[in-house]
Amino acid sequence: MRLNMASKFVNFGSKLFKSSKNLLSSAYAKRSSSSGSARKWIGARQKLLTFGALTGATGLLMYAMDASVDASSDNVHPAKQLWPHKGLLTAIDKESVRRGYQVYKEVCSSCHSLQYIAYRNLVGVCMTESEAKAEAEGITVHDGPDEDGNYFDRPGKLSDYMPMPYPNEEAGRAANNGAYPPDLSYIVSARKGGEDYIFALLTGYCDPPAGFALRDGLYFNPYFSGGAIAMGQLISNESVTYADADVAPSASQIAKDVTTFLCWTSEPDYDIRKLLVIKVFIISSFLIALTYYIKRLKWSSLKTRKIFYLPEIQENAKKAAEGAKNSK
Ligand code: HEC
Repeated sequence: MRLNMASKFVNFGSKLFKSSKNLLSSAYAKRSSSSGSARKWIGARQKLLTFGALTGATGLLMYAMDASVDASSDNVHPAKQLWPHKGLLTAIDKESVRRGYQVYKEVCSSCHSLQYIAYRNLVGVCMTESEAKAEAEGITVHDGPDEDGNYFDRPGKLSDYMPMPYPNEEAGRAANNGAYPPDLSYIVSARKGGEDYIFALLTGYCDPPAGFALRDGLYFNPYFSGGAIAMGQLISNESVTYADADVAPSASQIAKDVTTFLCWTSEPDYDIRKLLVIKVFIISSFLIALTYYIKRLKWSSLKTRKIFYLPEIQENAKKAAEGAKNSK
């Protein structure tokens, strides 16, 4: 059976090869017949080279400009942390996401919205459906109108989005000394440094250096641009109690968990995308090997071919043929 398959494959290959031989030889004849197309060929190559050089130079310029902006920024650069999900074959730590959701709910949600995440998004990620339903029922949603045209309050459902802490931006600013707490759904993607920055910001509060004048209601954080942030230090050791007694709620653990949660909210499809890339790699490596094999197969006889120009031999052969014809 396998032999049969193999011979079919070889047959198919040789057919392919035959048709490509004709194609290649005619293309070759066409190209060598006119020196005009050779000139075109060289012109296209030069254009391609110029395009490549320009793209490279633009890339370098952009990198240099970015580096110089970085170097002249007025904040400390966050340290790179070893995030478990940054590995080649690793997924986002879902236990950490579950704890991070708890931190968001208990600490951050009083000021920050998470308006692009619905309770249904938590299902299968860090909660079962019944757990997520119970979470949703904990909030009150203003809904309506009902059949009498009245608006009413109802407990939340899985399809509801996380509640907003303030009715509007103005209310948010009024409650926070004029600074608006940004929505956290995409904050990890929206800030340079991503998760490293968020973690550093949450754990980086310290006393301002001598001579640094802080206005009332602002706090010093070296990782925040300008150094003065309107959000105070909210995370400290044991500011949250975890259900899992094995996880000590130190300030850095809490900050790591809420940052991991925000990584997930920024890219809920992170794991699926990574899985897809792995599949593409596996499949394309097979395909590349097959393509290489077929290429070698098709070119093998062309590459090993020798073309002789021997007019006398041809002449002799012609004569011999003619002689044979005449003698018949
Ligand atoms: C008391 C209200 C309050 C709470 C609670 C709060 N924040 Fe904030 N947060 C703010 C305000 C106000 C700002 C805007 C700061 C500014 O622009 O100076 C802010 C800004 C931020 C920023 C953006 C910083 C930047 O680069 O612009 C992040 C990230 C952030 N908060 C994360 C969190 C996290 C995570 C929590 C929960 C652990 C949290 N916050 C809890 C009020 C709060």
